[in-house]
Amino acid sequence: MKYEVLHLLKKSSTTFLSGQLISEKLGVSRTSIWKYIKSLKEDGYIIDSSSKKGYRLISSPDILTFEEVNPYLKTNHMGKKILHFESINSTNNKAKELSEKGEDHGTVVISEEQVGGKGRLGRSWCSPKYKGISLSIILKPNINPMEAPKITQIAAAAMIESLREFNINAKVKWPNDIIIRGKKVCGILTEMSGELNRVNYIIVGIGINANLDKDDFSEDLLDRATSLKIETNTSINRKSLVGMLLNKFEFLYAEFQEKKQIELSIKICKNNSAVIGKNIKVVRNNNEKCAKALDLDGDGRLVVQYKDGSLEKLVSGEISIRGLNQYI
Ligand code: BTN
Repeated sequence: MKYEVLHLLKKSSTTFLSGQLISEKLGVSRTSIWKYIKSLKEDGYIIDSSSKKGYRLISSPDILTFEEVNPYLKTNHMGKKILHFESINSTNNKAKELSEKGEDHGTVVISEEQVGGKGRLGRSWCSPKYKGISLSIILKPNINPMEAPKITQIAAAAMIESLREFNINAKVKWPNDIIIRGKKVCGILTEMSGELNRVNYIIVGIGINANLDKDDFSEDLLDRATSLKIETNTSINRKSLVGMLLNKFEFLYAEFQEKKQIELSIKICKNNSAVIGKNIKVVRNNNEKCAKALDLDGDGRLVVQYKDGSLEKLVSGEISIRGLNQYI
């Protein structure tokens, strides 16, 4: 009901709405309306209250609730339900827990802060409250588990395409990093629950360094990480970016769902690859091997050539790659 009050306030824009009118429209008492208004104010909404004229919404907070992201959504499934948290351990863990209980395909978990955010290969992921974007998309595809890594490429492509809409040129450092000028702005962690030939659910976790400032990064991270704000010298509209990302993700995911192919996503990842054509180190179980990154195949595997001329198609799993002298 609180959000129905908010909806009415948003619709009436700058005009005052009387408590009487809201209470008639929603069929609840004026005292309840007052309580919902109070709660909205506690959430950060600035609402003008006048005993004679009623209520008027002045501004909305920078939070990633369904009510705030929905105006930017053009999707049929992705994000049509958003579960929003102020603080949480990890959105991926929450999404898993919900999936086990039967949460639907397309539901998105977003938190303003994670206290146990996870990265790939057991690393941690941190993102200061209200500055980054931490979200997890629940997917329930009817696919073989071997196909799951393709979803990381879809998410990477959706991210590249979304940033392009904000005039930001980013690149993909295979398999799951999005980088700008050689530094990481976004990481993707795809996790799966399944059996040998069946997927129960897939969680696509996306962490974006949106409006972080330099002093939000630890000294050692500053060499390798950056934020959209640092790179563009301006704060990004987080709600609009989340909406854009879900729109692009749904569009690219449709190709996978319908044809079990990700041609379009691969094309985007290839055209915006930070590694293809470069000499890299392939890191596997603490072993490093020099190679040249040659291509991305149709399944999203990175084709590399070692010094002895042999070729290998890398599957993301336990492998990471590095530039010869730096992060990339
Ligand atoms: C990486 O770069 O290694 C992947 C980072 C993924 C971070 C995101 S933030 C939202 C989701 N929840 C998590 O705990 N991790 C992912």
